[in-house]
Formats: sequence, structure tokens, C-alpha cells
Amino acid sequence: MLIVLVGLMGSGKTTVGRQLAKKLSLKFVDSDELVEERAKSTVREIFAQLGEPEFRRLESEALQTACVGGESKVLAVAGGAVLAEANRTLLLKNAKCIVWLDAPTSTLVDRTRRAKHRPLLDNDPTSSLNKMRQDREDLYRQIATHVVATASLSINQVVERIVEQCCLTAVSGGHK
Ligand code: S3P
Repeated sequence: MLIVLVGLMGSGKTTVGRQLAKKLSLKFVDSDELVEERAKSTVREIFAQLGEPEFRRLESEALQTACVGGESKVLAVAGGAVLAEANRTLLLKNAKCIVWLDAPTSTLVDRTRRAKHRPLLDNDPTSSLNKMRQDREDLYRQIATHVVATASLSINQVVERIVEQCCLTAVSGGHK
């Protein structure tokens, strides 16, 4: 069983995904972490040294790896991965549910303010996130089986919503 979380940067995919996986005793995988492990460098370094197209190629490869094998898991998919049709097809084919975590841009800006690992937010994060929303919102909507508006919810409440909406229950003997 593959549970996928999508959404813009700062929507809470990684934080929520970790908690959700813990609650369901499933493995948690984050596509950025997978890219970093495989490339042995950080997302910021990959952007700076190899450029965004190479990052996107590595990202698609990482998603392939995460989706094959059939091991049950929660997968947090980095914000830009939906731009590639092949990634969308892969997720649609393999996921039991695809949850779009959404929040207003101002919330995303607040949540991402302190973290410095996102090169695409270095300059004018509000405009950048608004532009990304324009480019990606339809794509999130297209592939999402469920949508959770997270702005007024705690992490636990978001996790609860996902569990309810996707009718999920803990896997006995699952990943610890
Ligand atoms: C990006 C999102 C980031 C990371 C990179 C680019 C994007 O992941 O992959 O900085 O284009 O939206 P998160 O969504 O996990 O922050």
C-alpha cells in the first residue's frame, strides 16, 4: 500500500508524512531525502552544481525507486515533482491514495521562512510560491484522491483527517 502526499513547499508533507507513517506503522520515504542519499549531496548543492533539470531527472529516478517493490509506505513527494507527466502517471498507477496538502501562500511562506534548504525560495518567496501555485495547482488537483486544507489544523489533526478520508488502519506487524 502506497500513500502519497503532494503539495507546495511548506504544505507539511514531510512532517505530516512522518507522523502518519508512525501512526500506521509504515515506512516513511521523502523523495528529496532519497535524491540526496543517491546523489550524496544536498538538494541545494544539486541545484547549484548540476542545475534544476538534473535535479528533476534525479527526482524522477527516486520516485521510480520509491514506487516499485510494492513495500507499503508513506511517500512525501517534493513540491515540483508533479510537473513531469511521467511522475504523475507513476503516482496514479501505484498509490492507494494521493493526498494534496494545501494552505494559503502566506502560511507556506511562514512555515518555510526559517529553513534554508530550498533554493527556489531564496528570492521573494511569496511571488515564487504564488507562481508555483499557478503552475501546479491544476496538476495537484488532477492527481489528488483527497485534499486536506491544513492552515488551521495541527499536525495531528491533519494526520487524523488523512486516516479518516483514506480509510486507513494500522498494519499489524508493519514497519517500526
Ligand atoms: C521544490 C520542492 C522541494 C525540493 C526543491 C524544489 C519545488 O521539496 O524538491 O527545493 O520545486 O517545489 P519540498 O516540497 O519537500 O520542500
